[in-house]
Amino acid sequence: MEKIRQIIIDCDPGHDDIVAIMLAARNPKIKLLGITTVNGNQTLEKVTRNALNVCQYLDIDVPVCKGLAGPIVREAPPVEERVHGDSGLDGPVFPPLTKQLDPRHAVDFIIETVMNASEPVTLVPTGPLSNIAMAMRREPKILENIDEIVLMGGAYQHGNVTPAAEFNIYADAEAAHVVFSCGRPVVMMGLDLTRQALCYPEIVDRMSKIETKGGKLFVDLMRFFCMTQKKVFGWEGGPLHDPTTVAYLIDPDCIETKAMHTDIDISGGQSHGRTNCDFFNLTDKVKNTKVAVKLHVDRFWDIVEENLKLYDHL
Ligand code: BDR
Ligand code: CA
Repeated sequence: MEKIRQIIIDCDPGHDDIVAIMLAARNPKIKLLGITTVNGNQTLEKVTRNALNVCQYLDIDVPVCKGLAGPIVREAPPVEERVHGDSGLDGPVFPPLTKQLDPRHAVDFIIETVMNASEPVTLVPTGPLSNIAMAMRREPKILENIDEIVLMGGAYQHGNVTPAAEFNIYADAEAAHVVFSCGRPVVMMGLDLTRQALCYPEIVDRMSKIETKGGKLFVDLMRFFCMTQKKVFGWEGGPLHDPTTVAYLIDPDCIETKAMHTDIDISGGQSHGRTNCDFFNLTDKVKNTKVAVKLHVDRFWDIVEENLKLYDHL
């Protein structure tokens, strides 16, 4: 029998974070145990509200727990309002919010859930790694029951907030250092991979034919996202970063990876927050990361389409 992956999504929604949640919540190969939020694309309050709104709209009945309002050591970088808007999730309009936040802190929820799970849990971080690192430091025993950490972050080539660094890692590089050096397998969906997942207007048109709530939400999100990608970067299709994590869990063949050693630059220098991936095995250090290198683009969009179809009809 095929293994069902028990996962926690730790996120800062964010348009692409929401698509990751949408792929996971109805897929029969995945059991979504909960959603935890962290400061990132927008403030903690706003991203948490976005997660609750989406869970309510799509009847995703899982705990949503609020986590850290900023990085562990440094000041948070500015929020990405240009891309995600004032709410952090501009585009869709939601009905009045009634879904309640789970009272547990995200860090407590992660610890409790991982410790009590019958099978090892896969952590799926799609924002800064503050909650995950804090949970690992607070209760190191969780490491024994973590299957893998499949995250969006980093780049072995070029960054997106500095020439060296990608946003999620840069936003809490010390936390990233804790996670990458924790000893459990890390699968890294970096910008090298996610820049292959370009959401062109044709993709949005294709998904607009899906007559489900998931299809509609995707289209409402992506129309705004495509507009800001064009306005801010001049791109016709922006990279849909975060859902590559869940696509990999659904069909690992959709993404090719290469095992490498990865260190996080926490020097505070000009490459602060860089994922130094030893692509050519120059250091001979233990290969702690499977770094994603190639996306099978058609398969990826098929996965998105198949999973959006699993929601209630409009
Ligand atoms: C990452 O930063 C955020 O803007 C996205 O949600 C994604 O997780 C890409 O650098
Ligand atoms: Ca994100």
